[in-house]
Amino acid sequence: MSDPDVPEPLGDEPLPADAVVPDSPAGLFGADGSLVPTPEPARPASPTSVPDGQRILGIETSCDETAAAVVIDAHHVLSSVVSSQVDLHARFGGVVPEIASRAHVELLTPVVAQALIEAGLDDGHVDAVAATCGPGLIGALLVGVSAAKALALVWDVPFVAVNHLEAHLYAAFLEEPDIELPLVVLLVSGGHTMIVLMEGHGRYRLLGSTIDDAAGEAFDKVARYLGLGYPGGPAIDRVAMEGDPHAIAFPRAILDEGFDFSFSGLKTAVVNHVRKNPEVATPDVAASFQEAVVDVLITKARRAAREHGAKGLCLAGGVAANSQLRERALDACMEDGLHPFLPSRSMCTDNAAMVAAAGWWRLNRDGPSPLDTGATPGLKLPVL
Ligand code: KG4
Ligand code: ZN
Repeated sequence: MSDPDVPEPLGDEPLPADAVVPDSPAGLFGADGSLVPTPEPARPASPTSVPDGQRILGIETSCDETAAAVVIDAHHVLSSVVSSQVDLHARFGGVVPEIASRAHVELLTPVVAQALIEAGLDDGHVDAVAATCGPGLIGALLVGVSAAKALALVWDVPFVAVNHLEAHLYAAFLEEPDIELPLVVLLVSGGHTMIVLMEGHGRYRLLGSTIDDAAGEAFDKVARYLGLGYPGGPAIDRVAMEGDPHAIAFPRAILDEGFDFSFSGLKTAVVNHVRKNPEVATPDVAASFQEAVVDVLITKARRAAREHGAKGLCLAGGVAANSQLRERALDACMEDGLHPFLPSRSMCTDNAAMVAAAGWWRLNRDGPSPLDTGATPGLKLPVL
């Protein structure tokens, strides 16, 4: 058995079970996997099966999902391929940045090829290439950004640098393009927890954010402590279904003050409770912890919607896949007369369709990004 603290080199690792390695489409990748320029004049007229509009190839490699998608005009998803690296990182209990970067290098070419094939565009006939340029892990981001620039250069189409947080905001527009604004978005992921007032496209006001742990981080840390494995959010979601959400009264930090969040005390409260009560049922702990997180998130989001006259409440980010959060968001919207926008679970967690959608909005608003745009690990959401 290898030492779990020392990541092994990836060289001989098998690809994750769900990795897709298609045949290389002609005109895109050579037999050795290298990029082959599309010969001119090789671009046929648009296939009739593909709707008109701007076809954006989105690329996402900010953390541990290697993803590519083709989306037309920010809402018509032609393909969305996500290859999760969960199996590679699970034995370390979290994402190992170096392993993530190397896996992106191996997986990105086949994932992009698969997305193009599924979209019926394996000749590389896209109108722009968008990639997440931050926030995220620097090595991981660089893989996607470099690949996107190379493809944009080879195909002679614009490159668009996309903010990962803005991409999460745009996930909802993929399924409901005519969302009425202003909108309160509860953006809850592994690295961020924020309430954003979306006043218009690209016009965001940050109403509140976490002062310590992100909601997803709290899920992951508590799951790890309870021995539920990685990633923790889906594990707690599952186990909590068997538990009583009112079994333990965990604290709701700064519930009645403003729109900021704090989850590190809750994590400590879980640890202390389990230490004092070793016989406690894990499903009850998971359900009570989840209830405390969801309670705070929903209470603040609906207050934000009320105080800022929002028409709707939108969930975004990986934690937005949580069953209890989705149920409580729907109930809150019903009670408060708000329009609920809940992207499907696969669009809440990291994917490239949301990157393509945000890329389309940015391209049409700001134009192409310069090819010297770098990857920025600490990139912030551009707020008013
Ligand atoms: O947005 P995302 O895929 O990646 C980041 O940008 O961080 O979010 C990942 C986070 C992880 O912390 C994961 O545990 C959490 O989302 N998550 C969930 C669920 N599915 C994913 N948390 C609670 N319940 C879920 N069903
Ligand atoms: Zn994310």
